[in-house]
Amino acid sequence: MRLKNVAALVTGASSGIGQAVSSHFRREGARLLLTGRRERLDSVEPDDLYVPGDLNDEAFVEDLAKQAAESLGAVDVVVLNHGLQASSPLTEMASADAKNVLDSNLLSAFLVMKHFAPLMPSEGGSFVCIGSRLGMVGKPGEVLYSAAKGGLIMLAKGAAIEWAPRNIRVNVVAPGLTATPVIEAAIQRSADPEAYRREREGQIPLQRLATPEEVADAVLFFASSESSYITGAVLPVDGGYTAF
Ligand SMILES: NC(=O)c1ccc[n+]([C@@H]2O[C@H](COP(=O)([O-])OP(=O)(O)OC[C@H]3O[C@@H](n4cnc5c(N)ncnc54)[C@H](OP(=O)(O)O)[C@@H]3O)[C@@H](O)[C@H]2O)c1
Repeated sequence: MRLKNVAALVTGASSGIGQAVSSHFRREGARLLLTGRRERLDSVEPDDLYVPGDLNDEAFVEDLAKQAAESLGAVDVVVLNHGLQASSPLTEMASADAKNVLDSNLLSAFLVMKHFAPLMPSEGGSFVCIGSRLGMVGKPGEVLYSAAKGGLIMLAKGAAIEWAPRNIRVNVVAPGLTATPVIEAAIQRSADPEAYRREREGQIPLQRLATPEEVADAVLFFASSESSYITGAVLPVDGGYTAF
């Protein structure tokens, strides 16, 4: 069990990649504090603690850190997986939507890092941020999301250096298109779902979407001692999309 005696926070645990990370961590023996926005979570196990709330709200993040300290004591691993995508041409995007994308992918990550780093034990800890292939390459219609995920990479790199003296490691897993409910729903909404799926798969060197479990495998690596000398790194899990 690679996460025996490890206490972990997983954000965005109510869906897709966050659920896969939670189930990998559970299997490896971690004690889990989970968070998402929806009030109830069916996938919670009796030993997990689920606390719903909006991570864009610093008062909630402070309260979450207090609950973590009370229920877990120290927190060894934090997976910053929450996030949202919004597609729109730049000139058509409302400023409020742009702010929401930046807050939900970047500012909220800063807030969680700020309030959870003090809870990491004196031996150190690990933050794993879920970035995106679009944090490394631009894409029309996804500019604000790209900017936020690119910012997340630099947040992680800077924090990795700042916190290295405390042995707090900060790394990024950058998924490509992953078969989560939100992506499957977008495919189904298209005019010809099978043709659209083939088109998207055709843009990926490995010719298929990632599974949430394949992304969770990389998160587990950064959370465990197997990556003890790695910090400030970005690992693409994108089937070769950013290899061009
Ligand atoms: N799927 C992909 O193709 C893909 C590719 C690259 C990167 N990613 C990244 O991977 C992560 C997970 O993606 P996914 O596809 O699993 O997404 P998802 O199914 O949409 O899940 C997103 C999660 O984030 C939570 N969340 C969003 N905004 C939040 C906020 N302000 N405060 C608290 N929680 C918030 C959601 O909570 P509720 O649902 O309860 O509201 C949900 O649990 C995201 O950061 C995404 O950008 C995904």
